Amino acid sequence: MSNQTKSMDKIVALCKRRGFVFQSSEIYGGIRGFWDYGPLGVELKRNVKETWWRDMVSGHDPTLAPEDAPSRFDMVGIESTIIMDPKIWKASGHFDLFYDLFVDCKTCKARFRADQVESSDCPRKPSKRPGEHDDCELTEPREFNLMFKTYVGALIDPTAEAYLRPETAQGMFVNFKNILSTSRVKVPFGIAQIGKSFRNEITPRNFIFRSREFEQMEMEFFCSPDSSQAWYQFWRDRRMAWYVSLGLRSDNLRLREHGPNERAHYSCGTADIEYAYPFLPEGEYGELEGISHRGDFDLRSHMEGKLIREGDDLVVERNEHGQPKHPGSGKDLSYFDDSAGEKYIPHVIEPAGGVGRTALALLCEAYDEDAIPDEKGDPQERIVLRLHPRIAPIKAAVFPLVKKDGQPEIAAGIYRDLKQRWNVFYDEKGSIGKRYRRQDESGTPFCLTIDHQTLDDETVTLRDRDTTEQHRVKIAEIESILAERFQG
Ligand code: GAP
Repeated sequence: MSNQTKSMDKIVALCKRRGFVFQSSEIYGGIRGFWDYGPLGVELKRNVKETWWRDMVSGHDPTLAPEDAPSRFDMVGIESTIIMDPKIWKASGHFDLFYDLFVDCKTCKARFRADQVESSDCPRKPSKRPGEHDDCELTEPREFNLMFKTYVGALIDPTAEAYLRPETAQGMFVNFKNILSTSRVKVPFGIAQIGKSFRNEITPRNFIFRSREFEQMEMEFFCSPDSSQAWYQFWRDRRMAWYVSLGLRSDNLRLREHGPNERAHYSCGTADIEYAYPFLPEGEYGELEGISHRGDFDLRSHMEGKLIREGDDLVVERNEHGQPKHPGSGKDLSYFDDSAGEKYIPHVIEPAGGVGRTALALLCEAYDEDAIPDEKGDPQERIVLRLHPRIAPIKAAVFPLVKKDGQPEIAAGIYRDLKQRWNVFYDEKGSIGKRYRRQDESGTPFCLTIDHQTLDDETVTLRDRDTTEQHRVKIAEIESILAERFQG
């Protein structure tokens, strides 16, 4: 099934039915832009995050240069706070610049992102675009800062204002010196973090694609200015290969280099990894991850203060008294490179991806409909999630065919053994066909059924979700067979 023929409504319905994703606060009518992850969704997200962490941090070998890397490098993780000193957001530019333009309709009071008016719906009937009803009255575009504001401490006044972070990245920049002085790392090295970010999106839409609360997987890679272009190329390709390894088909994925006019003012190069989400028209792609070459913008901002572009240079923005408009920390964040014998402010390459967007792409990719014969041989339509075993929420399901003849006891024993190692599921209720179908919809790659023959020869049937083929395997070999299949 191609992505263009997949229905987003059916994918959303499956996510609800099987407990992947629920609307937040649903029993009170729901709150827009916020989503809860149910029992299967939380496992899927954990698998995405663990795979990323293993690929980036815990599985990284700093003694060897990976294939195509300019050199060996160090990599560490961090977990910084969601609320940080508000001066960070002023120096980084988020306080002044992290906004979207919106327009209001004075008639129906709806609010739209200025760049999405032509693809948005006016809430009134008959269905039209904003501005198309005779009495629509749209305002001029206005700025709306996307950071959620809160107050720290008991006083609700401007001195207590703080923000929920709109990205995890700043937590890495402001800890650059701490990591250098405590972790024995040397440039080039990366700091990785997975955590919640918050953006008060004007029009959250497309299910979990654009949410107001979401998780990011970001890594800030610090390198010498001379080597930065080579590292940018390396990280672009490495991140693209990661998505392919999770089972996203390469014709649904693309790596798109931004043109000079599309880049942020500090960027020396940006590429997006994009996916052909089914809610997009044919030929269109949505962002999964951005990889940016940020030059020395971030460390300089936190040293000197908020930077603005003047011609080819980034300079500190000054107020009417000639002072930095938003001062930095004043701390020296430059680096002395022993091997080169020189001091510089490291350049940063940043791969920044979203956990929810990755989970959504994986769900869309995996969703499929086919027909398989039932117990009588009649074709039955089925919905199946063809998730890669590595990220499937449940790795295997164990069923006794009937609830008697000692079958449940044998099945429970197998279940308990496998449970030591993987998230497996036990089910003895309902017809075997229905139990298989439920696991197909949950994306469980294998089902093990204990039947009459098991009592004679200690074998069970192993059913493959994708082909529905079944063959007999010895109980003693189940664990090694599954381990081998999960590798692929
Ligand atoms: N530090 C750079 C940064 O935050 P970004 O492109 O704004 O860059 C990185 O965000 C990734 O975070 C995106 O590629 C996307 O996967 C995810 N993301 C951003 N905004 C999101 C939102 N409102 N809802 C869900 N995911 C989002």
